[in-house]
Amino acid sequence: MSDASYLSLEKLTLAYGDSVAVANLDLDIRKGELIALLGPSGCGKTTTMRAIAGLLAVKSGHVRLDGADITRMPANKRAVGLMFQSYALFPHLSVYENVAFGLKLKGMRGTELETKVQSGLKSVGLSTFANRKPAELSGGQQQRVALARSMVMEPKVLLLDEPLSNLDARLRLEMRTELQRVQKETGVTMIFVTHDQAEALALADRIVVMKSGKIEQIGSPEDIYNRPTSSFVADFVGFENIFPLENGKMKTSAGLIDLSGKAPSAAGLAWRPRMVTLGTGPFQGTVRGTSFAGDAREYLLDTALGPIKAEVEASQPPHALGAGLTFDLPAEKAAPLSRFV
Ligand SMILES: Nc1ncnc2c1ncn2[C@@H]1O[C@H](COP(=O)(O)OP(=O)(O)OP(=O)(O)O)[C@@H](O)[C@H]1O
Ligand SMILES: [Mg+2]
Repeated sequence: MSDASYLSLEKLTLAYGDSVAVANLDLDIRKGELIALLGPSGCGKTTTMRAIAGLLAVKSGHVRLDGADITRMPANKRAVGLMFQSYALFPHLSVYENVAFGLKLKGMRGTELETKVQSGLKSVGLSTFANRKPAELSGGQQQRVALARSMVMEPKVLLLDEPLSNLDARLRLEMRTELQRVQKETGVTMIFVTHDQAEALALADRIVVMKSGKIEQIGSPEDIYNRPTSSFVADFVGFENIFPLENGKMKTSAGLIDLSGKAPSAAGLAWRPRMVTLGTGPFQGTVRGTSFAGDAREYLLDTALGPIKAEVEASQPPHALGAGLTFDLPAEKAAPLSRFV
């Protein structure tokens, strides 16, 4: 095992009956790394987590953790922690007893148990809530009990499947910071599934984007946000204007179009709405929709190239529905795509 492959998924194929959900997946995760799994519903995120945890039999391939092949090891022997969206605390047990539960199952008793549980509660800021029942806690506090319960088991890897999606926006942000802190303090390796891109960008050391049971792209948050390599990832992270290239020309509903500026050699180009220049440029569009987003205003333009989404600062004078606008798609601002999928 090298440092770069503390947890390795090797040619992992996972299926429900005959239906393959994850195919030939390779992924190496460093010790202490926080990985976010991103991808549309049904792409195989939970399935992958279940296989790492030992809750789903592997069809082919291997799971290695800390130097050992754990592919066929029973779930309770793996030192893999799991936290799901419904964190299922025991309602009749106190916060203390909830956190102590797994340790007791392992046979821990006495001062060792007491010390472990207290330090777990302290790490999530709940020392003074030890005697409450889960129903007497807020959603965020319950979430923190679930986190403490997982962390006291000292897992080698902690898997979190949309753990924050039940919380309101403010609590989410709080818990996000909390998770990051606990992770940095303990150095536990984490895999985190989220539907929320901002969450993935804010938390992760690396992001893994999945599509239909395969990995589309692995990269730093900056890579994924600024340098998507395929049209799928570009679309997924908010590049709403995406065109294939043919011989350096943009392939559009109006045929092949010359780009302003130097066209890169790529399979396609993608622009975020705010990368579109409005008010000047070689192209013409008509405002078909407009929406105000606080500090920005978005326009949907009908153009010969197809629909174009542009975004400008809200301080700019607004354009009315039906107004004709010139615009540009500057090639030097675009993300070059190596694959169109
Ligand atoms: N118990 C099951 N039996 C049969 N098929 C399943 C089962 N669980 C998941 N699948 C299928 O496997 C594929 C992957 O599902 P999975 O739950 O891993 O997706 P996901 O990426 O976690 O999606 P979501 O974001 O909606 O949670 C889907 O096509 C799904 O329908
Ligand atoms: Mg899922």
